[in-house]
Amino acid sequence: MCGIIGYIGVKPANEVIFDGLTKLEYRGYDSAGIAVVDNGRIHCRKDIGKLRNIRKLLLDEFQSESTIGIGHTRWATHGRPSAFNAHPHGDCHTSLMVAHNGIIENFMALRRQLIEEGHKFVSETDSEVLAHLIEKYYNGDLKKAVLEATKKVEGAYAIAVIHKDHPEEIICARKEAPLLVGLGNGENFVASDVTAILQYTRKVIYLENFEAAVVKRDTVEFFSLESGENIVKESTTVDWNPVAAEKGGFSHFMLKEIFEQPQVIRNTIGGRTSEEEGKIYLEELGLTGPDIFRAQRIVMVACGTAFYAGCVGKYLIEDLVRIPVECDLASEFRYRSPLVDGNTLVIAISQSGETADTLAAVREAKSRGAKVLGIVNAKESSLTREVDGLVYIHAGPEIGVASTKAYIAMLTALTLLALMLGKIRSVISSDFVKEKIRELKVLPQQIEKVLEQKDKIKEIAANYLNYKSFLFLGRGFNYPTALEGALKLKEISYIHAEGYAAGEMKHGPIALIDSEMPVMAIVTQSDLYDKTISNLKEVQARAGKLMAIATEGDTQIRHLTDQVIEVPKVSDIFSPIINVVPLQLFAYFVADLRGLDVDQPRNLAKSVTVE
Ligand code: F6R
Repeated sequence: MCGIIGYIGVKPANEVIFDGLTKLEYRGYDSAGIAVVDNGRIHCRKDIGKLRNIRKLLLDEFQSESTIGIGHTRWATHGRPSAFNAHPHGDCHTSLMVAHNGIIENFMALRRQLIEEGHKFVSETDSEVLAHLIEKYYNGDLKKAVLEATKKVEGAYAIAVIHKDHPEEIICARKEAPLLVGLGNGENFVASDVTAILQYTRKVIYLENFEAAVVKRDTVEFFSLESGENIVKESTTVDWNPVAAEKGGFSHFMLKEIFEQPQVIRNTIGGRTSEEEGKIYLEELGLTGPDIFRAQRIVMVACGTAFYAGCVGKYLIEDLVRIPVECDLASEFRYRSPLVDGNTLVIAISQSGETADTLAAVREAKSRGAKVLGIVNAKESSLTREVDGLVYIHAGPEIGVASTKAYIAMLTALTLLALMLGKIRSVISSDFVKEKIRELKVLPQQIEKVLEQKDKIKEIAANYLNYKSFLFLGRGFNYPTALEGALKLKEISYIHAEGYAAGEMKHGPIALIDSEMPVMAIVTQSDLYDKTISNLKEVQARAGKLMAIATEGDTQIRHLTDQVIEVPKVSDIFSPIINVVPLQLFAYFVADLRGLDVDQPRNLAKSVTVE
């Protein structure tokens, strides 16, 4: 939700910042802006629209050689997308500029008070109060003014601030929104996310809540927003490859990330299994044996696609570990006085590790005595610092707004976890685990076989560009797959889609079936195969248009439809991993053939750091 970046060094600041903004654009793309300090003045350009449409303003025609500046790409919360609501925001005299990610919850009261004191506001945003507050407290010391201003605001912020009279420093600060400092040679960076600066440096320092920094060309000094005292922080070296954040010849990040999935599975399982011993090693888990043995139930909390991964996790854990599992949307869990205690293990799942609702759910669970295990992609993200134990999913940077490879990696990590817990609790044997490890290792090749059918899936998709509504049906392990398939289609193609448990059709939704309602059925071979086929016959009998994801060599399904995407036969527990791949490709091609912006769908942002 909004991306911020700052640069101080030797290169033209707007070029480095524009480049960083292109990497941060997945966080929001309503509008963008850049401000630099240039010979005792602020030079700022901003406008509504995606970066490619305002590139001329921010890059080609940006007349400044300045080597210090900040930039912002916006996902609107307060104030509609427009040039005047775009960041960075200035004070009354354009002496200083602020780029802000987060929400200032008490901005109305602050704004009223500042207006009474004579401040003139030009935008509808909550963020502008920060610029005016800093102006109010400024008397020659920018760091001090930021310190004072942040004491007055409630809510979440990651900010980067520049001032016309301070061409040697950027001040940045964080509370409940991600922020890091990148360390270069004679140059330093501030960013919401490491992908923005990966091509310049991999050496970073992540800020914690209530931490701030004075970032100069050759030094970075950290201090506490609570005490004002300096603090010492260690840097970490990020192991993500900058190339991983590029499109690498694919037309969209989403397509590239779908094709990365075989390798992602290899990375997620890498070094964590011993086929010989029939054992799973989740080293960084962090939870002790008693934490795991004491857990009488598990609650999954997550949002969106990560939530559907949690729903698959329920089937996996109940099947392999025999502990009751509930799945809760983090946004519901946090506000409904949830029934969790010291006997509950809460599993929080998140790609970004920054989703505000998931973080709040974790805090709620911990305040009630539950232990929390995080299943997370983004290294050192906020979630990783709040949980009691952690399993990284190792999907690498995911840029496409629609999550694909992170979902597959979450499912893989949950499968490993279920196998490990099932073994510890003696529900499953070493031999069973050995067999599943063997199967897991060939899963990447089996997914490659599905990816080879890309052109066929595109052909099928081409028949369905103008429908208004879709149903996705699945059962058992693949009920959540149906939900995820429907989510993928609606978020990037803007076509209404619903996922349903196939057995539930007769209890209502079958009334929707007619020739205008295509049905995508996940009907791979499992114990529920015959039952699902019966459900599909009911659809066929009502003139429904049917497509199916079926197991290679299945002839029975051909009696119901010829639009079949075949997937290799795998065990039930792995079927959600393989079956979602054709659904991702189907959604991708429907959206792309409809001419839509697949990587940046309307109204969405990748990392939802607001409620
Ligand atoms: C859908 C999608 C979102 C995210 C959700 C949670 O494709 O990407 O539904 O899954 O916003 O995000 P994370 O996993 O970062 O917590």
